[in-house]
Amino acid sequence: MIDQADKLRKLMQERYQQRSKVLAVISGKGGVGKSNISINLALALQQLHHKVTLIDGDLGMGNLEVLLGKPASKSIVDLFESKLLVEDVLEWGPGSLPFLAGGTGLTDLIHLDQDKMTHFGEQINRLGYLNDYLIIDLGAGISENSYGLMLAADEVIVVTTPEPTAITDAYSTIKYMRNKGHRQPLHLIINKAESKAEGERTAANLSTVTKRFLHVDLRLLGILPEDNHVMKAVKAQKPFLLMSPRAQISKEVRKVAGSLSGSLGEQPSPNRFVNQLKSWFLR
Ligand SMILES: Nc1ncnc2c1ncn2[C@@H]1O[C@H](COP(=O)(O)OP(=O)(O)OP(=O)(O)O)[C@@H](O)[C@H]1O
Ligand SMILES: [Mg+2]
Repeated sequence: MIDQADKLRKLMQERYQQRSKVLAVISGKGGVGKSNISINLALALQQLHHKVTLIDGDLGMGNLEVLLGKPASKSIVDLFESKLLVEDVLEWGPGSLPFLAGGTGLTDLIHLDQDKMTHFGEQINRLGYLNDYLIIDLGAGISENSYGLMLAADEVIVVTTPEPTAITDAYSTIKYMRNKGHRQPLHLIINKAESKAEGERTAANLSTVTKRFLHVDLRLLGILPEDNHVMKAVKAQKPFLLMSPRAQISKEVRKVAGSLSGSLGEQPSPNRFVNQLKSWFLR
């Protein structure tokens, strides 16, 4: 009996020491491809044998369950509004990808009481202990809600397309984060590029201005092509990585996963997520 308890304790300790990286995917302008990138990047990391859970952080507007073709009966809202454990709220998408759906009925985290915020933070931490990566798909632009969730992430991936409006919105978003004192590493993905050269030009332009005016280093993580396979996959409600694994976009997403995976380095302290969340919302 004592032996069993000891084993269990050891197992839990191992799990609790397992360190996950929390990545938030953001953009300035809407419709630039955050949700599709979040889903397919999660699957590509999973194919590299990492444990990954996808979180819909676009409160009130989330559509991961639609893109995954898996109507969800529970959502992230249940983690605030009930005492359910995160395991009871997770849904399973194609490729056995665990995800936390966006849900409706909760659009404002600011006025949540401390108990609810603590329970949420603890459950997300718990998810962190069980995974190598948590990927949070956030809404376009920045609200107080999304900024709180973003602060709790270890690294942020900014997505933009080469369109001037998307680039200027991305710049404004980075400026907002900088002004708020955000210091976590920032990655950049250029999506819907007509050519690699166009993607590189876009990345170079944005990086130059953020460096010069905001003193922020953007790390280019990948250039993803404009590819009809994405639209087809969205219509079929299936991830393009599974539906069209040989498409150029799938190859490039796997490359992004490979370079992220290679940089699975320093990790946060176990309670970082809950502490960061609390300090933002309960300040
Ligand atoms: N690389 C691509 N090539 C072609 N079309 C794309 C590509 N990426 C995204 N799209 C198209 O853009 C649409 C929007 O993508 P997605 O929903 O992932 O964007 P989003 O940034 O999450 O949007 P929102 O801001 O509304 O959450 C998709 O439905 C798809 O048709
Ligand atoms: Mg989206």
